[in-house]
Amino acid sequence: MAKFGHKDLLGMGALSVEEITLILDTAESLKAISARDIKKVPTLRGKSVVNFFYEPSTRTRTSFEVAAKRLSADTFSLSASTSSMVKGETLLDTARNLQAMNPDLIVLRHSSSGAPHLLAKEVKAGIVNAGDGINEHPTQALLDLYTIREKKGRLKGLKVAIIGDISHSRVARSDIIGLTKMGAEVTVSGPPTMIPVGIETLGVRVVYDPAQAVRKKDVLILLRIQLERQSAVLFPSIREYASFFGLNKEILRSANEDVIVMHPGPLNRGVEITSEVADGPYSVILDQVANGVAVRMAVLYLLIGGAKGDNVD
Ligand code: CP
Repeated sequence: MAKFGHKDLLGMGALSVEEITLILDTAESLKAISARDIKKVPTLRGKSVVNFFYEPSTRTRTSFEVAAKRLSADTFSLSASTSSMVKGETLLDTARNLQAMNPDLIVLRHSSSGAPHLLAKEVKAGIVNAGDGINEHPTQALLDLYTIREKKGRLKGLKVAIIGDISHSRVARSDIIGLTKMGAEVTVSGPPTMIPVGIETLGVRVVYDPAQAVRKKDVLILLRIQLERQSAVLFPSIREYASFFGLNKEILRSANEDVIVMHPGPLNRGVEITSEVADGPYSVILDQVANGVAVRMAVLYLLIGGAKGDNVD
């Protein structure tokens, strides 16, 4: 197996097409482990992974924990509210103290953009960015790429629309970087107040009318309105957002007939997506969650096990 030449996974920008392909291929070979009766292999036995989540999470935190356990790594969880950060300890001091216990990897989610980059410079352990502020969420993008490739058989040339609060979404940013790098054509849509000025420089097209953005697309990625990250009211009301930008069955008809509908979660049912679409035949939302475990197993393996060429069977 090819070597993965990184200590950390901080963002999609640092990954080459070959490295992204390596992660997706590795995830493909690891996915079967989760379908076995005994869902565990000894690949990362003796390795330790700290999950440090400074922000709430359902999917990412559980997924990393499940992924590490399926590879037999020891896992330890820490949240801001149960750590000594509530007593005033800084993130850096917390990380240095964790480092003193010699973990192999720290998975960090933090509300500040750049927090994982800071830790990566200061600690010997590898750092995985599990979402930093409005910057990046690389493992979400990797599991999105994996799911699209699994369902469509390719990434290159696919027409993808990302609809919602683009400005405040780290998923949008990582997806855009990953999808364009892999040759997909990306359109973004949402209220003008939620589309960052100059986003075209990332290689995407901006279409403000969501009905137009959905037309003839192979993949639709819906995003949650990130109310917790907005400092001003960016649209008149939730009801108006839902009626202008929410994905419903009628708008979906103008997409390609084999379109897939994706959402990183958590969903706001009836706001950016109707329940009928979220639970309907085009939705692959729960496939994304299932694939997240395989992709995170691949990331852990390549960062702290794969370079040694361990057998994953
Ligand atoms: N997609 C995602 O990051 O979900 P969580 O916030 O539940 O981890």
